[in-house]
Amino acid sequence: MQPIQIAVIGAGNWGFNHVRTFGQLAECKLVAVADLAARNLHKVHKQFPEVFTTEDYIQALDLPGLQGVVVATTAATHYAIARAALERGLHVLVEKPMTLDLTEAQKLIELAQSKGLVLMVGHILLYHPVVIRLKQYIEQGTLGKIRYIYSKRVNLGQVKKDENSLWSLAPHDISVMLHLLEQYPESVSATGQAFISQTVQDVVFFTLKFAQGELGHGHASWLDPGKMRQFTIVGSRQMAVFDDVEPVEKLRLYDKGVDIAESYNSYGEALTLRQGDITIPAIQMSEPLRNECLHFLECIREGKRPISDGINGLEVLSVLEAAQQSLESGGIPVMTSLPTLRAGKVAGAVL
Ligand SMILES: NC(=O)c1ccc[n+]([C@@H]2O[C@H](COP(=O)([O-])OP(=O)(O)OC[C@H]3O[C@@H](n4cnc5c(N)ncnc54)[C@H](O)[C@@H]3O)[C@@H](O)[C@H]2O)c1
Repeated sequence: MQPIQIAVIGAGNWGFNHVRTFGQLAECKLVAVADLAARNLHKVHKQFPEVFTTEDYIQALDLPGLQGVVVATTAATHYAIARAALERGLHVLVEKPMTLDLTEAQKLIELAQSKGLVLMVGHILLYHPVVIRLKQYIEQGTLGKIRYIYSKRVNLGQVKKDENSLWSLAPHDISVMLHLLEQYPESVSATGQAFISQTVQDVVFFTLKFAQGELGHGHASWLDPGKMRQFTIVGSRQMAVFDDVEPVEKLRLYDKGVDIAESYNSYGEALTLRQGDITIPAIQMSEPLRNECLHFLECIREGKRPISDGINGLEVLSVLEAAQQSLESGGIPVMTSLPTLRAGKVAGAVL
């Protein structure tokens, strides 16, 4: 089997991880890397001297034999670069947030669809072994009916100047909430504050409300004393805590809850607190980015629809847009809406 030829556009802080990962996978051949900064290209050249490097991404996209492109540039440039790649018949893995605008995301999905190309978004946590296990537990009913999920993605730094903590950090949490609940929220509210620059919110608290009453809540901040990467999932049968900062034992299941007796004389008698076992499941860990990259290659090879496909990217983007609108309106709940795709099918449906 011939290795799939891949180019990475954007080899900055995060993009270099794509370069390293695709550069090491036997299933593909990293053939080109483009970045505006010569020092980033120099770093790539030192590690992968056989890879073509250029400051002009069009040169990379026009390489004969190229099949897939990773777009890991600053978010404002995602649309133009992803579009240029799709127009050339290339499969695309675009980093989060997919674009900064719903219409642009919609255009990318339609373009990929019309050409039969893979369009995948870098929602890396969907490829994390713990999230994969949580999804299995939810599907098997181990946690019962999910009542609410909350996340904390906080740290001191890295302070961004061009995007707030919602757009920078929360796409990960929102993508996991939608994935685990298999639902799109009805409304979103958000509050936050810009303490450092006075224009870019350093801390944002957001809440997603779903049709069946489930809640998703997140805290995203780079102005916090300690690093936390945590999800708590409260189900009717069990509760789960996923702590990604823990080096091992990242997931704990709590057999805890409030049971309601079938017959009782008083309200107090009806409720029993269940304080059961705490279980730490053994989970074989693997690098989420490597899993994500392998999935992209598999989708190209087998014509599969990615787990984090363009529609998933569009859904997350529309939640971000609604949250931003709420943030700018003093935290009032904003109804979410998804654009209808040209194919006549509503986003979220299987295309
Ligand atoms: N999935 C994740 O876990 C994760 C983590 C961090 C960042 N990201 C995302 O990855 C993307 C990049 O983030 P980063 O932290 O690496 O940013 P960065 O600023 O460190 O790197 C961006 C790079 O893109 C290059 N670039 C910009 N425009 C270009 C163009 N037209 N042609 C070629 N190169 C161009 C810049 O020179 C820079 O080196 C962002 O969308 C970010 O949200 C994802």
